[in-house]
Amino acid sequence: MHAIGVDIGGTKIAAGVVDDEGAILAQVRVTTDATDAQSVDAGVIEVVRELASSYEVGAIGLAAPGFISSDQATVLLCPNLPWRDHPLRRRVAEGLGTQVPIVVENDANAAGWAEFRFGVGRDVQDMVLLTIGTGLGGALVVAGRLVRGAFGVAAEVGHMRVVPDGHLCGCGLHGCWEQYASGRALVRSARTAAANLPESATRMVELSGGGKIKGPAITVAAQEGDPLAVSLLAELGRWIGEGSASVAALLDPALIVIGGGVGEAGELLLEPAKEAFLGALSARGFRPEARIELASMGNDAGIVGAADLARIGPEKVEQ
Ligand code: BGC
Ligand code: NA
Ligand code: ZN
Repeated sequence: MHAIGVDIGGTKIAAGVVDDEGAILAQVRVTTDATDAQSVDAGVIEVVRELASSYEVGAIGLAAPGFISSDQATVLLCPNLPWRDHPLRRRVAEGLGTQVPIVVENDANAAGWAEFRFGVGRDVQDMVLLTIGTGLGGALVVAGRLVRGAFGVAAEVGHMRVVPDGHLCGCGLHGCWEQYASGRALVRSARTAAANLPESATRMVELSGGGKIKGPAITVAAQEGDPLAVSLLAELGRWIGEGSASVAALLDPALIVIGGGVGEAGELLLEPAKEAFLGALSARGFRPEARIELASMGNDAGIVGAADLARIGPEKVEQ
């Protein structure tokens, strides 16, 4: 059975028809302003309609960047978008006028599931995925099952507190991990550094078109060897590694997967993360150590995971 997976981001919606081996058969994208939930509904309806006009599909999975209700119908809250209690499933079902089952899924859960089923995690049964984009998302696979929790909102690792009285987070708390280990956090640190030491930030400013420093410019500058950019990514990597050690204390995964837009910085992020992880791992030297690896499915993970989870159905999210 083919299914449609839709990955809803801050500025674009990407969707694809996915077969049961995780291959994308057709793909479409539209730009959207996700600060307006209504326009997202319209964009999702548009992409699904387009794909469904040439493929017969048995399920539709919608991946959204926030807390999702346990019935997989409602986006309860998106920390980085002004969505609150948004009935995404109903809006899309009404707009499409379809009987095809639709499930709403957390974006990181979708990406993590795709990596577990078809990507870098396919040989393990216990895996954590961290997706570093605007926010910090998580997916937990324990004994081959995606962990949803009692109320559907498990794996919101980005909102574990790592700094008492730290930066304010979109979830309403202070000091969340996401405020130190996300694309937004990286940009904030870069801009602060640029304000304090303008001469050290000239390359990043230049790559940002001369104005305020933007996220992709930090990665590009770091890849060129720019010392400030390298150190900013290393700092983010250390936050990721330290937090991962806490996650390992709880779950003992075999593998921790790093994905998302910022994950594309690759080794610049991964090496410091590994070092900080081992440095913060309890009982080190007397326990096996989880591997930390980069995600392998890139931008497709959200689409593939959302489609696969929808195809399998909410009751049987098991390999
Ligand atoms: C949200 C998660 C989401 C992550 C990545 C976090 O702020 O709480 O639900 O998975 O960002 O988009
Ligand atoms: Na999640
Ligand atoms: Zn938070």
